Amino acid sequence: MSLAPASGPASATAFTPRVFSGIQPSGGLTLGNYLGALKRFAGYQGGGAETIYCLVDLHALTVWQDPERLRQQTREAAAAFMAAGIDPARSILFNQSAVPAHAELAWLLSCVARVGWMDRMTQFKDKGGRDRERVSLGLYAYPALMAADILAYRATAVPVGEDQKQHLELTRDIAAKFNHDYGVDFFPLTEPVIEGAATRVMSLRDGTKKMSKSDPSDASRINLSDDADTIAQKIRKARTDAEPLPGSMEGLKDRPEARNLVNIFAALTDESPDAICARFEGQGFGAFKPALADAAVAHLAPITGRMNDLMRDPAELDRILRDGAARADVISAPIVEETRRIMGMIPKR
Ligand code: AMP
Ligand code: TRP
Repeated sequence: MSLAPASGPASATAFTPRVFSGIQPSGGLTLGNYLGALKRFAGYQGGGAETIYCLVDLHALTVWQDPERLRQQTREAAAAFMAAGIDPARSILFNQSAVPAHAELAWLLSCVARVGWMDRMTQFKDKGGRDRERVSLGLYAYPALMAADILAYRATAVPVGEDQKQHLELTRDIAAKFNHDYGVDFFPLTEPVIEGAATRVMSLRDGTKKMSKSDPSDASRINLSDDADTIAQKIRKARTDAEPLPGSMEGLKDRPEARNLVNIFAALTDESPDAICARFEGQGFGAFKPALADAAVAHLAPITGRMNDLMRDPAELDRILRDGAARADVISAPIVEETRRIMGMIPKR
């Protein structure tokens, strides 16, 4: 797994190699989350860097959440992480709100970030829509909290899907401005790690839209909780075109739906998209879709099964998250304390 160098480009400080990433527990996880994030997260374990994975419940609150459902979805996301191979003994797995560093550093960094930077965030423009005056202040400030998540651990590498690239660039801008304004070399310029065939899994109904847990159409996505029949049916009904598959990805430039299905196939089976094209060259979707459905079910069914097993013991999931939070606190509390000192607060001790 390629990891970024442990120090920022202009930095003399050698930062401890640390991988950090987060997922919002604001609904069931999708195949997009799995291929773009979860599946890759597990691969960083044992690669010489500490791995820290966070269920960002404070981010979820930026839009209304039913309290009991949020709690349940947080447990479900924890179960999905573990079912996808994240081992809480080798990684730190926790929920964001249980570690005070996140909210505290978010405030400190929101005094470094500029309003003009926030105004450029396309995710806010998309989510805020036309009703921008009425969305929560948290939704606007969200990228500063995300920067705090990462910088509270001085994380050096952050694996994410393509949609988070702009937020990671903002995190680097905030870190650089902090270092510059206070004349320190304290925060690393974190590297985004956006790699693989599935950095942007698209909707099954519209190849120009991202597959998302918040899409009103359930047929647009595969949920990690879907059973084998549902997965097969959704793939069978996925929008495609009437052309046969070409011998390489070159031929799929103007065929977003077809390209998406080939990318999903490749990411599921750890092959290259070109290899998938070569295998199905000249064949139509009547042949391709059943093969894709088989691959998806073979890959996802064991994960769903493990997830369901883990969900049977919510007290154990809570215990694992609390243990992760205690370990996350040990790393992040001194970093936030040092940030406070640098910014001019009287030390706590
Ligand atoms: P979210 O569900 O928005 O909290 O996203 C959690 C992680 O999954 C982030 O790293 C996203 O970039 C990634 N992700 C979400 N949707 C997709 C998608 N359709 N394709 C690839 N990655 C995704
Ligand atoms: N904003 C990310 C998303 O919606 C989730 C997230 C929050 C995150 N904090 C993070 C991802 C820190 C990586 C690192 O997908």
